[in-house]
Amino acid sequence: MPEIQNTLIRIADAARLSRQGVSRAVYAAIYEAGAPWCIGRHQPVVAEWEASGAFAGAVCDIGCGPGDNAFFLAGRGHAVTGIDYVEQVVLAARRDPRQAQSPVRFLQADILDAGLTLGPFDTILDSGTFHGFSDAERQRYAARLAALLRPGGRLLLLAFAAAESRPGGPRRVSEGELRQTFPAPDWGIERIREAAIEARIFDGRAAALAAEILRR
Ligand SMILES: C[S@@+](CC[C@H](N)C(=O)[O-])C[C@H]1O[C@@H](n2cnc3c(N)ncnc32)[C@H](O)[C@@H]1O
Repeated sequence: MPEIQNTLIRIADAARLSRQGVSRAVYAAIYEAGAPWCIGRHQPVVAEWEASGAFAGAVCDIGCGPGDNAFFLAGRGHAVTGIDYVEQVVLAARRDPRQAQSPVRFLQADILDAGLTLGPFDTILDSGTFHGFSDAERQRYAARLAALLRPGGRLLLLAFAAAESRPGGPRRVSEGELRQTFPAPDWGIERIREAAIEARIFDGRAAALAAEILRR
């Protein structure tokens, strides 16, 4: 496992340093090797948001991976669509035994594809997807989310924080960068707080930001 971890860290560092964002091919390779974010359960922050009533109406989990958060939310009674562009992970999610109890609609699509017609959704969850984007992709992403979210809908975003100083992992995200990417008048930042992302690296927990952002 340490060797795999080191390889993953090198891949992620290269992507970050080049500011190219993480490509679909790199994500697919990481899944082949054993993705460190596949922990077999939902992120605790997602459960906190759910308990606080932050998820309403039609929910979309963008960059859903194996669907751990999506299945959790479906189990809490939400209508959930999970989107990911890596074919193998979408196929595995569709075959997941959790589908029997808590069905989720899984779609394979590139969320940055302007031709993608979906939604509108009332709540969008981004658990670990935004922090893989380059600067240019961040701008395209915000435009795509504005189209996918109903006015009054909410984006719930969990990303590696600038405070995570240990080497490796994805790009770090600051509060200022979130405010810059999701500005008024289209967006209203409700809350940005310190949180954690659970993973199989970083001793199990990485410093993160949890953001609640309204689509105006
Ligand atoms: C770090 S993983 C997080 C997975 C999951 N949300 C979780 O919390 O465990 C990021 C996911 O976003 C997906 N992704 C990244 N860019 C994407 C894009 N443009 N369109 C669709 N999925 C994307 C990747 O394939 C990967 O599954």
